[in-house]
Amino acid sequence: MTSKTDHAREPHTSPSLRPDTGGRGSEEDDVQTEWRRVVGRRSFLKGVGLAGAAAVPGSALFASEAMAQSGSAITNGDVAILRFLAAAELIESDLWQQYNELGGVNGGNPAYMAALSNLDSDMPQYIADNTDDELSHAAFLNAYLRSKGAEPVNLDEFRTLPSSKATGARQKGRLTNLQSLDVDTSWYVRYRSTKNPDLGASFPQAVTIRREPAIPLNDTDTPPGLPAPVPPVGAQETRMQAIANTAGFHFAFIEQGGSSLYSIMALKASSLEVLRIIVSIGGVETNHFSLWHDKAGNAVAQPLAGVTDPQTGVTFPDLNAKGGELNQTNLILPEPCEFLRKSLPDCSVVRPTLDANGGAVAAIDGFTADRLFEGQSSKFFRTVRQLAREADAAQRQVH
Ligand SMILES: [Fe+2]
Ligand SMILES: [Fe+2]
Repeated sequence: MTSKTDHAREPHTSPSLRPDTGGRGSEEDDVQTEWRRVVGRRSFLKGVGLAGAAAVPGSALFASEAMAQSGSAITNGDVAILRFLAAAELIESDLWQQYNELGGVNGGNPAYMAALSNLDSDMPQYIADNTDDELSHAAFLNAYLRSKGAEPVNLDEFRTLPSSKATGARQKGRLTNLQSLDVDTSWYVRYRSTKNPDLGASFPQAVTIRREPAIPLNDTDTPPGLPAPVPPVGAQETRMQAIANTAGFHFAFIEQGGSSLYSIMALKASSLEVLRIIVSIGGVETNHFSLWHDKAGNAVAQPLAGVTDPQTGVTFPDLNAKGGELNQTNLILPEPCEFLRKSLPDCSVVRPTLDANGGAVAAIDGFTADRLFEGQSSKFFRTVRQLAREADAAQRQVH
C-alpha cells in the first residue's frame, strides 16, 4: 500500500529551519548551516534515543519533536496497522469476556472455575486480568485512531454468534465461538525447539484437540455444582476438566499469536509513537503467552495428566512421560532457536516474525482454522480479511 507523507517524521515541519534553496545572502547561508547541524544532530539522536534530545539547544527542535508526539498525522500504513490491531483486540476481548463470565474471578460457573483452578489456583484471577487487558487494548487503539482523525473499528454488527447456555454466561450475541474448537497446539513444540518457522520449520501438535469446547455448553452437559477432584472422577467431571484443559491450551494459542503479530506489525510502523504503541502492547501479549504457557503445561503433567473427554475422545496425555525437551512441561521459557540466518548463533526470540507465518492475514487464518469464527457471516470474513490485507501491506517509511 502506498502511504501518504508521514508528517510526524518529516523534517520540514519546522518552518524556521526550512532550507531556502535560493541561497540568497548570508542569512540564508546561516539557515542552511543551522539546518545541516540540526539534521546531523537529529540523525545522531536516532541512535541514542529521544531522551538525548533534551540536551540539544534550540526551540525549533523541541517544537518538531513535540509535533511528532502529539498532534501530527500518521501514515495510511500506520492507520492500517492500528485498525487491524483494533479488530484483533475486539476479537480477543470478545473471547476473553466469554471466558471471564464463566471462569473469571467473579465468574458465574463454579464447576468451570474449579476445573480451571486445577491448572493453577489463581486461574480465575488471571482470566479476569487478561480480559481487562484486552478491553483496554481495544479501547486505547480505537481512541488513538480517533485522536488522529482516523476511523475506529466497530465489529458490533457481527456480534451474532450464540452464547453458552451454561450458568454464568450472559445471553447476548458474540463475535467468536468457543464451543467447538480445533486448537493448534504446535506452539508448545515450536517454543521448545531450536528450529524457527521463519526458516522453514514446521512442528507437530503437542496435544490433539479437535471439536472440543473451551467453555461449558450447558448445565445438562456439565452441571455448575460439579466437584473437581484431581484426577477427575465421573463422566461429567471428566468432561468439564477436558473443557478447562482445552481453555488452558487455547489461552496460550491466542496469546502466542498476539506476540508474533505485534512483533511483525512493529516492523511496518513509520511513526515513532505508533511504534511505541505496538511494542508496548505487544510486550503484554508476550507476557500473557508466557503465563498461559506455564498453566497449559499443568494439564499434561501429573497429577492432572491423562484426562480424556468421554464425549469427544480428546485426550490430555502425560507429556513428561513421553520424555525429551520437546515435551517437558516446565520448559516454558523460549528455547534459543535459529534466527535470521542459520549461520548465526541460536537466539531466544519470539517466533515467527515473518508476515506469511504470523502477520495479519496469517492471524485471521489461524483463528479461522481454530474454528473461532464458526458460524460467522461471509461479510465478517470479508471485513476482517480486508483489514488484515491492508495491515500486511503497510510499509515502514522513515525520512
Ligand atoms: Fe491484546
Ligand atoms: Fe492478548
